[in-house]
Formats: sequence, structure tokens, C-alpha cells
Amino acid sequence: MKLNISLLAGLIALLASPTLTLAALDSTKLVGPEKCADCHKSEAAAWQEMKHFKTFDDLHRRPSAKEIAAKLEIVNIKTEGSCMQCHYTVNDTGRAVAGVSCESCHGAAADWIGKHNEKGQRDQAVANGFISPSNIYQLATNCFSCHTVPNEKLVNVGGHQAGSAIELVSWVQGEVRHHFKAGTANTDATPERKRMLYLVGRVVDLEYSLRGVANATEKASYAVSMARRAKAARAEIQKIIDVLPREELKAVAAASDGVALKLNNKEPIMAAVQAISDLGRKISDTYKGEELAALDALIPTVVQGTPYNAAP
Ligand code: HEC
Ligand code: HEC
Ligand code: HEC
Ligand code: HEC
Repeated sequence: MKLNISLLAGLIALLASPTLTLAALDSTKLVGPEKCADCHKSEAAAWQEMKHFKTFDDLHRRPSAKEIAAKLEIVNIKTEGSCMQCHYTVNDTGRAVAGVSCESCHGAAADWIGKHNEKGQRDQAVANGFISPSNIYQLATNCFSCHTVPNEKLVNVGGHQAGSAIELVSWVQGEVRHHFKAGTANTDATPERKRMLYLVGRVVDLEYSLRGVANATEKASYAVSMARRAKAARAEIQKIIDVLPREELKAVAAASDGVALKLNNKEPIMAAVQAISDLGRKISDTYKGEELAALDALIPTVVQGTPYNAAP
């Protein structure tokens, strides 16, 4: 059989496509949450109260989940089909071993677990796939890669919701909070940290909403929701620029304004996505929370869910 070069090239392009936005967990590098719990007992206890944890035991029992699965002809939610990508941690034999777990958010750990807490080896851990809390851009893109639900069929055919109303400060500081450095109580992030989470989160929301629009191929619920989401995210960026008129933020807005949010407009939208992604990284790496007090009035104070063992 002759190899079909154009088909192969197409496949390679598809695999390399930046519109496949879901952060892929390298299942061959998973160590499992029990390993983390050996040293991070409080974090593990907090995790067990999260919907991220509970989805493992209860998703497949929920009537709403069964309804979505039936429409997509998925018989077993926990062993087959697209649910696996976002609701579970899947090992290298294809088995769901947990819900959304430590490594879903911090990276598959085999190559970094022995380095991330060693002085002088943190950079090596990051190079080996550790998603460190100090890299807010990477932390945030990981949340949005699941939470914008970039899957047209799942939404249009399955009837799954098209993404969450996620804002990073309120969604990290509620039930997801696990910050025990000051002792055993789960403390709130500092105001400086919150400003950075807020700012980077808003930029990443716009980036991932545009990625969602870029993937839309038919005029239906998914395309409409993603376009609405991108418009809302753009409006939030404007509110930020009004109080913090920095050059990078204006460039984010300009990149977004330069493209039409319509079907089959993938290339221009992805060029804007790339520009916003570069700016998001730069903002995350170079802005200082101390200089961003102007954002305080915009940051939500009501959090999503109840923090585990919160400090009084
Ligand atoms: C052998 C003990 C040990 C194991 C196992 C371990 N850690 Fe850690 N980890 C530490 C120590 C010590 C620190 C530094 C103190 C702290 O931040 O709690 C740390 C820090 C961290 C941090 C914060 C780093 C930062 O930049 O502030 C994260 C995130 C983290 N670990 C995640 C994990 C995850 C996820 C796992 C499982 C895949 C894991 N750890 C397994 C001991 C361990
Ligand atoms: C691209 C990621 C992604 C995929 C794939 C995915 N989900 Fe979800 N799902 C989410 C997120 C994120 C939420 C949380 C939404 C929220 O609370 O804001 C969610 C929530 C849900 C809910 C709760 C909704 C509610 O209102 O109670 C159900 C049920 C559900 N998903 C079922 C499924 C099923 C069944 C599949 C597979 C056919 C699936 N999901 C695939 C990301 C995904
Ligand atoms: C839903 C994603 C998510 C999951 C699941 C998750 N983490 Fe985290 N983790 C984060 C985020 C986000 C931060 C930074 C929080 C902040 O900025 O306030 C963080 C911070 C940390 C820190 C540093 C805390 C500090 O005091 O600064 C450690 C240690 C950690 N995680 C370990 C774990 C372990 C162990 C697990 C599993 C038992 C886990 N995480 C599960 C997202 C997650
Ligand atoms: C691997 C995919 C994935 C990642 C990464 C992820 N989430 Fe989730 N998240 C989900 C799913 C799926 C649910 C819904 C679980 C359910 O209801 O069954 C969820 C639920 C939540 C909820 C509860 C929402 C509610 O309706 O009450 C919060 C809060 C949340 N996520 C915050 C975050 C934050 C913050 C991050 C990044 C630090 C993050 N998530 C990363 C998949 C993910």
C-alpha cells in the first residue's frame, strides 16, 4: 500500500494543532494522589472535599450525566468516551483511577516528584512537567482548558454545558483552596497574589474563549455560547484597562478586537489567540501584585464553594 502523504501530513497537522486545547496528562508519568498524600496530608484532605474528587464516585450515577452519555451513545461513562478527559485521571492502561486529581492540576509527576521540594532543583522540576503555583499563566490555562469545555459535539449533541462561569480568584479560594503554609489552617491568598490570579485569569479566559470560537463549525449552542463567552471576557478586560491602562492589556484588547467571532474563521482567530497567549505569559512573568492595587475593586469576594478548614 502506498502511503498517502497528504493524509499523513493532515494527521500530523491535526495532532500539532494549537486548537486542540485540552491539557493532556501524560498517563505514563502518573504517580497517583496517594503518593502526594504521603507528604501533603492537609492538601489531600482538602482535595477529598472537592467536586474534583467526588466526581469519581458520583458522576456516573447522576441522571444528568446518564442523559448526556446516552445522547452520545456512551454506555459506560467511567471507561469510555470523552468524559474521561475532564472528569477523571486516567492511567496508562486507560483506567480511571481518580477524579480530577493533584496531577491534573500540577502535572504528571514521575519526573519531578523527587525534585520539586529540593533546593536548587525547582527549575528542573518545572522543566520535567511540574506546574508550579508560581507560574500563574500555566496554572490558569490548565483550569480553563477543562472549564471552557472545548468540545463542540459534547455540547451540541450531548447537551453538556458549554463551560463554567469561572473566575480564578473566587474559584481557587473556595472549595479548591489548599494553602497550609501558615500551619494547619487553610489560609486565604494574599491581596498581591489575588491581583495576579485575577488579572492573568481574565486574560486566559479571553484566550480560551477565543480558542473555543475558533473550533466552532456549526451554528448551534456551542458556537453561540463560545462567542458570548468571548464577548463577556473582552468586556472584563475593558473594565481592567479602565483602571489599569497598561500597554500589554491594551494589546490583548486590540488582538481580540481585530477578529470577527464567526464560524470558519479559524486562522485569524488563532493568530489572535497566539498573541494573547504570549501577552498572558508576559503579564504573568513580569507584573507585580504590589503595583496592582487598582484591581482590588474588581476582584470578587464571594467564592465558589466552601473552603475546607478555613482559617478564621
Ligand atoms: C517526599 C515528600 C513529598 C512528596 C511525595 C510530594 N511533595 Fe510536594 N512538596 C513537598 C515539600 C516539602 C514542599 C515544600 C513545602 C510546601 O510548599 O509545602 C512541597 C511543595 C509542593 C508544591 C508547592 C510548590 C510551590 O512552588 O510553592 C506543590 C504544588 C506540590 N508540592 C505538589 C505535590 C504533588 C502534586 C505531589 C504528588 C504528585 C507532591 N507534591 C508530592 C514534599 C513532597
Ligand atoms: C472538556 C472537558 C469536559 C468533558 C470532555 C466532559 N465534561 Fe462534564 N463537566 C466539565 C466541567 C468543567 C464541569 C463543571 C461545570 C461547572 O460546575 O461549572 C462539568 C460538569 C458536568 C456535569 C454536572 C452538570 C450539572 O449541572 O450538574 C455533568 C452531569 C457532566 N459534566 C457530565 C459529563 C459527561 C457525561 C461527559 C462525557 C460524555 C462529560 N461531562 C465530559 C467538563 C467536561
Ligand atoms: C483543581 C486543581 C488542583 C488540584 C486538583 C490540586 N491542586 Fe494544588 N494547587 C492548585 C492551585 C491553583 C494552587 C495555587 C493556589 C493559590 O494560588 O492560592 C495550588 C497550590 C498547591 C500547593 C502550594 C500551596 C501553598 O501553600 O502555597 C501545594 C503543596 C499543592 N497545591 C498540592 C496539591 C496536592 C498534594 C493535591 C492533591 C491532593 C493538589 N494540590 C490538588 C490547584 C490544584
Ligand atoms: C481535568 C479537567 C479539570 C481541570 C484541570 C480543572 N477542573 Fe475544575 N472541574 C472539572 C470538572 C469535571 C468539574 C465538575 C465535577 C462534577 O461536578 O462532577 C469541576 C468543578 C470545579 C469546581 C466546582 C464548580 C461548582 O459548580 O461548584 C470548581 C470551583 C473548579 N472546578 C475550579 C477549578 C480551578 C480553579 C481549576 C484550576 C486550578 C480547575 N478547576 C481545574 C474539571 C477540571
